[in-house]
Amino acid sequence: MNILVIGGGGREHAIIKKLRENAGVEKIWALPGNGGIAADAECFPVKATDIEGIKAFAKEHKPDYAVVAPDDPLVMGCVDELTNLGIPCFGPNAAAAVIEGSKVFSKNLMKKYGIPTARYQTFDDMGDALYYLESAPVPTVIKADGLALGKGVIIAETREEAMDAVRSMMADHKFGESGDRIVIEEFLEGPEVSVLSFTDGKTVVPMVSSMDHKRAGDGDTGLNTGGMGTVAPNPYYTDEVAARCMEEIFIPTMNAMNAEGRTFKGCLYFGLMVTADGPKVIEYNCRFGDPETQVVLPLLDSDLLTIMQAVTEERLADVEVKWKDGSACCVVAASDGYPVSYQKGYEIDIPDDVLPHVYVAGAALEDGELVTSGGRVLGVTAVAPTLAEAVEESYDMLDRIEFANKYYRVDIGQRALKALR
Ligand code: AMP
Ligand code: GLY
Repeated sequence: MNILVIGGGGREHAIIKKLRENAGVEKIWALPGNGGIAADAECFPVKATDIEGIKAFAKEHKPDYAVVAPDDPLVMGCVDELTNLGIPCFGPNAAAAVIEGSKVFSKNLMKKYGIPTARYQTFDDMGDALYYLESAPVPTVIKADGLALGKGVIIAETREEAMDAVRSMMADHKFGESGDRIVIEEFLEGPEVSVLSFTDGKTVVPMVSSMDHKRAGDGDTGLNTGGMGTVAPNPYYTDEVAARCMEEIFIPTMNAMNAEGRTFKGCLYFGLMVTADGPKVIEYNCRFGDPETQVVLPLLDSDLLTIMQAVTEERLADVEVKWKDGSACCVVAASDGYPVSYQKGYEIDIPDDVLPHVYVAGAALEDGELVTSGGRVLGVTAVAPTLAEAVEESYDMLDRIEFANKYYRVDIGQRALKALR
């Protein structure tokens, strides 16, 4: 069995390492992959957004199965294109990926089907948005409609900040066309929980819950990033919250997408906030989270490829999805200065016994040596009986990985540990 994986970050590395556990897997091709992924897959320099390039590669190499991991190619219809070539795929088609591709779509979907989320208004006229803000409560949250590399969300503490945010999106086009339409929504409070799920449109199987650490600095300070670390399970996701999510959010979302003629097949990611009023949806993603995947998949006790194929063939209800006991912690090491500006090209030294626990995000091979090539360089995941042990072990491993300008948060998992006390 030969598999094509689209993408080239830590998430894709985690997916590829997990797929490798299936003895039937021979070749894995990664487009574009990265210097670290190259140890586990054959990488080719075709960008994840180069749909024509991906099609040409698929026609030539004829993979038996494909996994499309990042948001852009999913929203661009990569799964539709590969399916048309006769290649079975894991991932939603473009019609379903719109659940992440348009915040206006997802907010309207939740309103129409009574799925709990922050109250909101949508605007495509800046004057209307500014007028609305004159009497709207603050803090408030301003979101660009389309994909904006996870950065199209501004939490405004004051009316002035809110108005500046609207102008930056709608007049200055800070997030390009993504900001032509915006959502202004109620500010919610409570712990955040990420729940990735497998769904084939008939069944939804939540994966183990997780907690992201999005800010660059310790104590959740500084700029938003792609994610500086994760732990799983998330202690705020109690059995009671899980039961409510299943009944009020997960199943209703699957049914809503079916009712809209947009059956979602793949990994549906629920970004949740556990408010005093119960769990509410902050965002949907149409894909595995990064770096959530780097803690969730190491806890998966069943075969990933078997589950993915069952999703594609709409027989998810027939396969077992089992989780290991214990906890996982992933700490991300970045290049100092991320997410603003940073140096790259530094050699990375990873001890052999640590390598199986490393998911490489931003590294290239230069003359056979692994060197830093991105903001987030790699993540290292430990799985242990308790969260405290997982946190300690992941930091111990990270300490033994060396590269110049290595930066990481020292408090990944501390909030979760506090909640457990
Ligand atoms: P998103 O890109 O939608 O995940 O938003 C990024 C982050 O902004 C989330 O992880 C939350 O921390 C925060 N956020 C988004 N929407 C809200 C909201 N309505 N209330 C409070 N915080 C929010
Ligand atoms: N870690 C958040 C995301 O993947 O969107």
